[in-house]
Amino acid sequence: MELLEGLLTRRSVRQFDASKSISQADLEEIIKAAQYAPSAHNKQPWEFLILTDKEKMSALRHVQPWTSFAKDAAAVILVCGNTEESFSRHKEDETWNYSDIDCALAAENLLLAAHSKGIGACFCGAAPMPKVIAGLQEMFTLPDYIRPLSIVILGYPKEEPKQPIDRFKQEKIHWEKW
Ligand SMILES: Cc1cc2nc3c(=O)[nH]c(=O)nc-3n(C[C@H](O)[C@H](O)[C@H](O)COP(=O)(O)O)c2cc1C
Repeated sequence: MELLEGLLTRRSVRQFDASKSISQADLEEIIKAAQYAPSAHNKQPWEFLILTDKEKMSALRHVQPWTSFAKDAAAVILVCGNTEESFSRHKEDETWNYSDIDCALAAENLLLAAHSKGIGACFCGAAPMPKVIAGLQEMFTLPDYIRPLSIVILGYPKEEPKQPIDRFKQEKIHWEKW
């Protein structure tokens, strides 16, 4: 699949063929693509927790209610940031941490790599929702410096998602001045 075509045709997939699994080689290649994302100061602060166990995937809805369709997924990848490794600053005058941004970029690569393989995926949010972060940390006994950014739900699509016709909005582009 050509890159631009993939970018334009990727859609969130929430209906999966529950009988089909994703090979370990495909999951690893999808995560490889995620690890080639840009990151602040090239810190690459991401970690990936893969779930294929149906009970674990179904239970995600107890911490993030908009993930109920994970029950039919082939796999879930929790994209997490290591906030001790990410580019950050903690001083009196400013505090910031690039973990979420780095992980979001990695997650988009992951979605596109899955799409290129005919695997459907949906990015479901974790950070910055404090209760969801805490719930996932407890559910998977994550260390407190591991901050889940996204619950990416994957599987072979049961049906083609509809393509939008009006995504491109010329009025969102501001040339030279606002
Ligand atoms: C930060 C973020 C959080 C999201 N959380 C959820 C979610 O919890 N559940 C869900 O079904 N989709 C979730 N989505 C997917 C969006 O609903 C989807 O990307 C949007 O409707 C556009 O559709 P498309 O991905 O097909 O282009 C999330 C997307 C983003 C970027």
